[in-house]
Amino acid sequence: MRVSNRIVLASLNREKFEEFNHLLSSYGSIELVPAEKLIRNPEGLQSVERYDTYFENALAKARLANHASHYPALADDSGIEVDALQGRPGVKSHRYATPKPQITQDQANRDLLLSELQSNENRSARLCCTLVLVIEGVLLHSNGILEGTLTKAPKGIHGFGYDPIFVPQGETQTLGEMTDEKKNLISHRAKALHELMLQLKTHGIVLAKP
Ligand code: IMP
Repeated sequence: MRVSNRIVLASLNREKFEEFNHLLSSYGSIELVPAEKLIRNPEGLQSVERYDTYFENALAKARLANHASHYPALADDSGIEVDALQGRPGVKSHRYATPKPQITQDQANRDLLLSELQSNENRSARLCCTLVLVIEGVLLHSNGILEGTLTKAPKGIHGFGYDPIFVPQGETQTLGEMTDEKKNLISHRAKALHELMLQLKTHGIVLAKP
């Protein structure tokens, strides 16, 4: 089955969009379009994100974007699971900290996580990502996990979210200290996308220019 190579990303996160664009460039000519360009009320993507699993949240976002744009829709729901916090903040990672004036949500989240952990020596954590692709009535989904540890202070200016406080297993730098190219070789999102692309192949779905 040949399907439009134009895919709407069901997210308002600009950094995620850039990351996906970079990742997708190694899978041929896929044209990723931000939700704001194809959907009349993209803010709705935030209000549907209210479930207790990454999968349900990603599914709700992908369905909304597909329905509103009539293009294949890709959604991602991610989070960080910290062992010493029994897996929190997990699916609640985005709105973990209460928003504060003058501080970005990402920074408030990192500050709260470091203050909850304090000097706890158990700093193991994982970044998790679930992808859902709704395409011509077919629903595909995949997961990616990146194991690592949390630092005691933020390091690096790259990436977004929890990147400056997360050191992947086997590395010495935080994701915030790595170039986008390096993060994209090992990330939870790269792993989930690879799996999703294999599934497209298995289903015989070919993304091609209209
Ligand atoms: P959401 O999937 O957009 O709801 O993101 C959940 C939370 O995880 C947000 O706080 C993001 O900033 C964070 N997050 C998502 N992906 C990454 C990543 O690749 N690195 C670090 N933090 C991330």
